[in-house]
Order: sequence, then C-alpha cells, then structure tokens
Amino acid sequence: MKPVVLAGGSGSRLWPKSRAALPKQFLRLTSDLTMLQDTVARLDGTQAEQPIVICNDSHRFLVAEQLRQQNIQHGGILLEPMGRNTAPAIALAALHASLNGEDPTLLVLAADHLINDTAAFHKAIAQAEILAEQGKLVTFGIVPDSAHIGYGYIRSGDKVANTEVGFDVAEFVEKPDLATAQQYVDSGNYFWNSGMFLFKASRYLQELEKYAPDMLDICKRAIATETPDLEFVRVDAEIFATCPDDSIDYAVMEKTDAAAVVPLDAGWSDVGSWSSLWETAKVKDENQNVIIGDAILDDVHNSYINAEQRLISVVGLDDVVVVETKDAVLVAHKDKVQNIKNVVNKLKADK
Ligand code: GDD
Ligand code: MG
Repeated sequence: MKPVVLAGGSGSRLWPKSRAALPKQFLRLTSDLTMLQDTVARLDGTQAEQPIVICNDSHRFLVAEQLRQQNIQHGGILLEPMGRNTAPAIALAALHASLNGEDPTLLVLAADHLINDTAAFHKAIAQAEILAEQGKLVTFGIVPDSAHIGYGYIRSGDKVANTEVGFDVAEFVEKPDLATAQQYVDSGNYFWNSGMFLFKASRYLQELEKYAPDMLDICKRAIATETPDLEFVRVDAEIFATCPDDSIDYAVMEKTDAAAVVPLDAGWSDVGSWSSLWETAKVKDENQNVIIGDAILDDVHNSYINAEQRLISVVGLDDVVVVETKDAVLVAHKDKVQNIKNVVNKLKADK
C-alpha cells in the first residue's frame, strides 16, 4: 500500500494563521508536529510504503524540510505548477506510481486531518485493502453529528461479500445544501465522507477515463515528460494549466458504481475551522475556553483565543474566536467561522 498525501490545499478558513505561503497542513495546530508530519507519522505500524506527497510547486522546500525534520523517507514529492483540485492531483500520483508497470494500492490522505485513535484507523485501512483487492474505490465513513455542508454524504447499501465491515455505496452526494444535509443526518442512513480513499491505482484511472477522459488525458501528457529535480518531480506546466479543476468527489465518487464504504470511528476531524479546533481541543479552562498564548479573560465562555505576539484581553463575551498574528487579527462569532473564507477572497480581490 502506497500512501498519497494531498498537500496542495489553501486552508482559507483558518486565516489569519493559515496563509497562501503557509497553509494549514504545514502548521502545528493540534500537536507538536505539523499536520503534514502527523499525517505520515500516524501510518507507523502499518505496511505502508514510502508516501508520495503532492503539493504546489511553491511549497516544495517546506514539504521537503518538514519530512526531513521527522526523518520521513518519501517516494517522491510531486509538484503541481498550479492547483487543479484533488481529482487531477490523485491522477498524477496514480500515474507516477504506475510508471514502472506496477499497480499499487493507493491510500489517499488529506494532509490536514486529525485522527485520535490510530489503532482504529489502522484497522479500517486493513478492511479497506480487502475491498480494494476486489476492485472497489473505498471511502471511510464517519457517523455524522451535524448537518455540516462542507462534507460529502454517503448512503451505504448492501454489505460487500467476504468482508466484515464493508458496504457498497448506494449514493454519494458531495457538499449538499443545508436542508438536504439535515434530511440525510435525520434519516440516520448516511455517513460523512472523511476525504480519505483507498483503491488500486488502475481502478481510479479506469473510472477517471470513464467520467473525465479529458482530465485523464491531460494528466497523462503532463506527467509523460516528468522531470526529476533532486527529490522533486515536476509536471509540464503548460499542459497541466489546461486541466479542468475538479475534486475526486464530484469527478468520480458521485458517479462511479464501484464505490464502497468502511465505517471509521477513530476520533476523526478535518480541522476545517477555528470552531472545530475549539471542539477537539483536549485542554479547556473552567469556562470551556481554549487559550493559546498570552490572554486575560473576564466573564468569557466557550471561546477560542490564540495569541501569537501580543496579549489578548476579552471581557464579557461568549462564543468568540480571537486569533492574533503579527500582521492580522481575527475576531469572529464561533458560529460564523465558515465565513472567514469570504475575508480571504476579499483580500485576494483587493490585491
Ligand atoms: N495536491 C493537491 N492539489 N492537494 C489538494 C488540492 C490540489 O489542487 N486541493 C486540495 N488539496 C488537498 C487539501 O490540502 C486537503 O488535504 C485535501 O486535498 C482535501 O481538499 P479540501 O479542499 O480540504 O477538500 P474539502 O475539505 O472541501 O472536501 C473533502 O474532504 C471532506 C472531509 O474533510 C471531500 O472529500 C469531502 O467529501 C469530505 O467530506
Ligand atoms: Mg478539507
């Protein structure tokens, strides 16, 4: 099994810590390790081979350095000249991993997730490998606890023969609207898609051929000329620039009839926002506040305070997020932190 670590996202909802030059997967948010380092480290104890990491060209030294710090041997750092979302990124990795005529099983991982119970995660991977051998494109399903609209939703169908815990996917819906998500959660028949996948490289490429042939063709041509540069692998920028922008979820998982789901109960969180960091924090004060850095609070409850350089003081407020950095301060209501990406979009537009 070959891990493919997707490390090319922007993590804009964790602004102002997460920046274009230093997105969330490269930050120490939930432990002493960065999220990228944690992603690879939690595979210790499995049969995983050296991971392929795929990221934006501009982050290459950051990735190489973070892997080196943890003595992580990798199987290549693939560089995208520009982001085209996860479907092409996984295609490039699958093609790269198959170059020598092999057909490895790929464990596709987001570089920015938190998993508390590593043993349960390893168990789920082992189950998924059995399904992948049968040609399935395996997802890992999380029992939902809210109608989150940032996730894919999976309705499980029949149990797959000869497995303990695998189900066919009856329906996969990426990022439904709130009313639909609520209906799914109320029905009790849906999982969240965790955003991790396991399949044979050839099966992913076959499904991509079926549902997004142009994308596959461009990825094939972009990697055909792959140029090794030290530990990096570059793809052709001019060709890749013409690639459609789409996620694996929309491009393949919603359409394929070969998807399966293995339930995952491992304390998973995608650390998508400041409120999820508040929720998953192990240490809170007596008023349920998470405080990182220097802060004085008075009559403040259920809040997330993160001071990098200066003292933060908050008085008489509940459910707030305050994040202070060298050049920007965020103050937000804890229920509205999904909207922070609007701030980032505004900043980009003003540039
Ligand atoms: N290399 C590369 N290139 N990586 C990328 C790119 C890209 O263009 N775009 C995103 N990534 C990486 C991100 O860094 C992250 O690790 C992972 O791919 C997933 O991308 P997100 O942008 O975070 O996806 P999402 O959170 O909106 O949705 C996915 O994850 C959810 C669970 O967290 C989907 O799979 C959903 O269905 C799922 O519920
Ligand atoms: Mg995500």
